[in-house]
Amino acid sequence: QHQFDLVIAANRLPVDRVVGPDGEESWRTSPGGLVTAMESVMRGREGAWVGWAGEAGEAPKPFVEDDMYLRPVPLSEDEVAHYYEGFSNDTLWPIYHDVIVPATFHRYWFTAYEAVNRRFAEAVCEVAAKGATVWVHDYQLQLVPAMVREMRPDVRIGWFDHIPFPPVELFAQLPWRRAVLEGLLGADYLGFQRVADAQNFVRACRQLLGLPTKGDTVSVSRADDSRRVRASAVPISIDYVGLEEIAKRPETQQRAQEIRESLGNPRTLLLGVDRLDYTKGIGHRIKAYGELLEEGKVSPPDEVFVQVATPSRERVAAYRELRQEIEGEVGRLNGEHSRIGAPAVHYLHHSYPRQEMAALFLAADVVLVTPLRDGMNLVAKEYVTCRYDEGGALVLSEFTGAFHELHQAFVCNPHDIEGLKQTIMRAIETPDKEKRRLMRAMRRRVADHDVQRWASRFLEALEVAPERPQRTT
Ligand code: G6P
Repeated sequence: QHQFDLVIAANRLPVDRVVGPDGEESWRTSPGGLVTAMESVMRGREGAWVGWAGEAGEAPKPFVEDDMYLRPVPLSEDEVAHYYEGFSNDTLWPIYHDVIVPATFHRYWFTAYEAVNRRFAEAVCEVAAKGATVWVHDYQLQLVPAMVREMRPDVRIGWFDHIPFPPVELFAQLPWRRAVLEGLLGADYLGFQRVADAQNFVRACRQLLGLPTKGDTVSVSRADDSRRVRASAVPISIDYVGLEEIAKRPETQQRAQEIRESLGNPRTLLLGVDRLDYTKGIGHRIKAYGELLEEGKVSPPDEVFVQVATPSRERVAAYRELRQEIEGEVGRLNGEHSRIGAPAVHYLHHSYPRQEMAALFLAADVVLVTPLRDGMNLVAKEYVTCRYDEGGALVLSEFTGAFHELHQAFVCNPHDIEGLKQTIMRAIETPDKEKRRLMRAMRRRVADHDVQRWASRFLEALEVAPERPQRTT
């Protein structure tokens, strides 16, 4: 039996299994910030990763990759629809992101969520050595901490929230709010992106469960289980050294040049990079850019806008509608403002390998990060990391976690289209010398607070968490 002192549980494994039309099996890196961050944390630490391989049906056998023991958890077709697309991404995701689109509630979705969380908890207990550290991730697995505690009082349990934790007024809409809070309170320590997220959680425990709270701790007192649980901010980051190394490779620089050349060597290359998600404010950004085109403040080929929109959650209705809307807008702008050989907007509905992303970042003069709500937004941190030349400018929404760290960005409120237009123009027009000063400061911040530091801070907080479980088996 394989058992480990460090076990992490996340909905997705770091790799997805893809079976081609010919039945050929291959693996590719899973999408999203969670995997980007955790992959570099786990590399070089001996541990197990419990997660879903991204496909309905039987799970592949456990296997070892980059020194990690990967333990796939199976999901049936129905569970993918109800637990993953339904409860996780059509109930929790909208509520946790300010209800930008309305949340959908179905009782049978929650039933599936519970069943899958139990399966994850069981898989965790199977691979956790005595006294192990168990690190649970994100909104898909909020019941796992209490389930693991119930089965394995010997282990230490932490949970990290990669997305925002909503204000109590929004969280209270959730019919299963009590179950979710009680699930999370099974942990010894809870980590959040921002101070406000941790405070929202503590307040929800006080107001909805009536539990005593003091500062950043919640007191749980039951006959068999009396503890204090701490909830605080420990913002996530990226592998600064690894990504900077990729950006510095001659072939990446070569590729960045090629990209600029194939765009007709624009004076200003503007870039957006997002999962195609309604939280990212892609439509707001395109609207602002469209008005700048109409007003003649920008025009191709002098200014060129590239939007990379990585396909995401395509079976969820809100995502399908978003795609239609964005592609309609892009089409309209191009119809009106492109000339032969010089499109106004280059829209790419693809995902790209890290090196291609690094080249795009190196090529871009302005990167637009304009979410309406985002837990952190690692694209902002990736961009500044790639700019070892201190070039470029970052436009950053104040509704991201990154805003609380990258103080030298060109800050915007994406709802304010007029303001966003002005900010984009400012980012274009600010003298290079000043932009370099801003970029240098942001780079220092990310270099000093990279993903390894984040992981150590989280694990230390978990280590010194107020109390060990009181029960003995
Ligand atoms: C965000 C979430 C992750 C999720 C990722 C990709 O980063 O915090 O938990 O894995 O998006 O979304 P997906 O639904 O494809 O896993």
